[in-house]
Amino acid sequence: MEKDLLADYNEDYNKKPECSDDLDDFFEEFMDSQPIFKDKSVLQSNYLPAKIQHREVYLKEIAKILAPALRKERPSNIIIYGKTGTGKTLCTSYVLNKMTNIATAKSIPLKIISINCKLKRVADTEYRILLEILKELGVEKKASTGYSTNELYKDLYVALDDQKRNIILVLDEIDSLIKKAGDEILYNLTRINPELKKSEITLVGITNDLTIMDTVDARAKSSLNEEEIVFHPYDAMMIQDILNDRAELAFQPNVLDEAVIPKCAAYMAREHGDARRALELLRFAGELAERDGADKVRPEHIDNADKRTERNRILDIIKSQPKQFQLVNYSIIKTSLKEKVNVVTNKKSQIVEPTTTGAVYDYYNKLAKDLRMPTLSLRRISDIIIELEVSGLITFKILSKGRYGRTRFISIPLPKTLYTEVLNILAEDLNLV
Ligand SMILES: Nc1ncnc2c1ncn2[C@@H]1O[C@H](COP(=O)(O)OP(=O)(O)O)[C@@H](O)[C@H]1O
Ligand SMILES: [Mg+2]
Repeated sequence: MEKDLLADYNEDYNKKPECSDDLDDFFEEFMDSQPIFKDKSVLQSNYLPAKIQHREVYLKEIAKILAPALRKERPSNIIIYGKTGTGKTLCTSYVLNKMTNIATAKSIPLKIISINCKLKRVADTEYRILLEILKELGVEKKASTGYSTNELYKDLYVALDDQKRNIILVLDEIDSLIKKAGDEILYNLTRINPELKKSEITLVGITNDLTIMDTVDARAKSSLNEEEIVFHPYDAMMIQDILNDRAELAFQPNVLDEAVIPKCAAYMAREHGDARRALELLRFAGELAERDGADKVRPEHIDNADKRTERNRILDIIKSQPKQFQLVNYSIIKTSLKEKVNVVTNKKSQIVEPTTTGAVYDYYNKLAKDLRMPTLSLRRISDIIIELEVSGLITFKILSKGRYGRTRFISIPLPKTLYTEVLNILAEDLNLV
């Protein structure tokens, strides 16, 4: 059957030579044009660069804190804070890789477990994280069996204490775990050591959200915070250095206009110096140049790539917001969407109109109560609205509205096509689905 269909298609296409000619020309031109990339994978975020730029101080700091494990002593727990793309994951894995190599060479009993808590269905609940840690310790359990968390903790104690060793457990993107599953798991994990007779465990938490630890149980927090490192954003010059190193491996010689990397770095430093986005932007600009059949990547390609990645940027900000911000954001969008009925056709359509702080606050209050979340004061909500404006998610105007006094009118500068996507993300994060 499928074969017949294919034969039909082929026949059809053969009847329309003008169409296939166009494509043939396109492919031929594409094949003839100068390649832009030498090795695109170098620009991917999971690529491990040979050299880590501008992070000597942090690398040393992490190494100093964790080094006691090589002397079979328990290092302090650490929490590493820093915005996305500041090199937290890279630096932590770099230090731990070095330690693993030394431990292996010198037969030092050291076990490192790294878990990315953002990975959906792998590590976004206490249950799944426990299964994942057990798996790393060689204990395979079926997720569907329905163990109680108590049982899993018991298995975990046994597996951890299997031999005399130091264990370093890295929980990367811990903020997304806390947002999803609460802080209980942290509380429990920070209480494991007294249960262990032979081994000792050190926790390394990494978070993109600087405020998340304020929402965590005070005892768990102070225990995780034995040491604290804050990664500062890169400035434009640092981003340029990072990009230059990668560009040399990723692109063909002389295909980058000299203004491209400075422009890319300047764009990134405009918000916070995010090396991941800088690399993505550069890669995307290269792809656009390639699609254009251009012989060089030029600054315009960076401009175009930036416009197109704006969508991803907005979605990233929304996903990484604290819960209360998400609630306010959700309320703003919901109260901005109005249903309009056409009087002639009787057809309904959705329109977007500016909303007001009052309307947002009413909606927010109801929603927070429904979700059994603490409700913040109107004053605090106004502060959050101001912060949302700073991150570019909304704009507002204050207008005097007759006898009602001054009212803040809030608009959303997003393209309308993004609304549903944003609402879906928020609904999922807030467990509204
Ligand atoms: N100092 C650096 N030198 C080279 N590449 C870097 C540096 N910092 C970050 N990168 C690259 O930027 C991307 C994001 O870094 P990552 O460590 O994942 O950031 P974070 O974990 O803070 O969000 C990765 O591709 C990484 O290789
Ligand atoms: Mg990271």
